[in-house]
Amino acid sequence: MNTVLIIGAKSDIATALAHAYAKNHSNLMLAARKVETLQNVARDLHIRYRVEVTLHELDITDTISHRTFYESLTPKPQGVIIASGYMCEQKIAQQSLEKTLETINVNFTGAVSLLNTIANDFEARQSGFIVGISSVAGDRGRATNYIYGAAKAGFSTYLSGLRNRLYESNVHVMSVKPGFVHTKMTAKMTLPAILTADPHEVAEDILNAQQRGVNVLYSKWIWRYIMGIITCIPESLFKKMHL
Ligand SMILES: NC(=O)c1ccc[n+]([C@@H]2O[C@H](COP(=O)([O-])OP(=O)(O)OC[C@H]3O[C@@H](n4cnc5c(N)ncnc54)[C@H](OP(=O)(O)O)[C@@H]3O)[C@@H](O)[C@H]2O)c1
Repeated sequence: MNTVLIIGAKSDIATALAHAYAKNHSNLMLAARKVETLQNVARDLHIRYRVEVTLHELDITDTISHRTFYESLTPKPQGVIIASGYMCEQKIAQQSLEKTLETINVNFTGAVSLLNTIANDFEARQSGFIVGISSVAGDRGRATNYIYGAAKAGFSTYLSGLRNRLYESNVHVMSVKPGFVHTKMTAKMTLPAILTADPHEVAEDILNAQQRGVNVLYSKWIWRYIMGIITCIPESLFKKMHL
């Protein structure tokens, strides 16, 4: 039976992913801050799907701990999903270096640090899959969300390069670019219903796409076309749109 490591396991999308992968007969390693609060979730997954679920303490910004964290995992997972993320309101982030750095450290630096270690192990074992949850926000900088967007753009580029590097080592890397999703992260936002997914829809999209070896997944699918249009708008026009 496969073991899948989920980073940022308290996220709403990650919880839905845990159900999707457990239902698909994968054992789970759930990693999060204050991970003991996931004990009931772990018990429920174990009873419901008859899979092994272990809990692991991890702060994605604590890069010094990443190597020890990974070395402590037994057995080593066959797949890893990075679901941790942090989005601060743009107006607050642009006035606060602390919030800006947290945005970069959670969404980019921390994820890169952990994946560097995991990628080396998967490369040596010549197998495994890596799923990184980035965002459509990384496809083009917008006035209303460019600090988070810049961190996600960095993460998307990292995943693209990693995919390129690990291709010949039989390790599959998938970038996920959700549009709007109903989660804690967007709870205070008014989102257009037709463009907004539920976490379980995104989780099903991710599981299916990962099993098919998709490289870049947009969820909902329509976001591929929306971002295709948005990235084609000339900069001279785009800067006047205040999107
Ligand atoms: N919701 C959307 O519309 C949307 C759109 C595009 C992309 N995404 C991305 O999808 C992923 C999942 O987010 P979500 O929507 O499910 O939001 P969420 O429920 O708010 O989950 C975000 C998770 O990240 C974790 N996290 C934050 N800082 C961390 C740290 N230093 N160490 C470890 N974990 C940390 C949080 O843990 P705590 O519980 O400990 O705070 C939280 O559980 C994120 O990467 C997000 O950027 C979301």
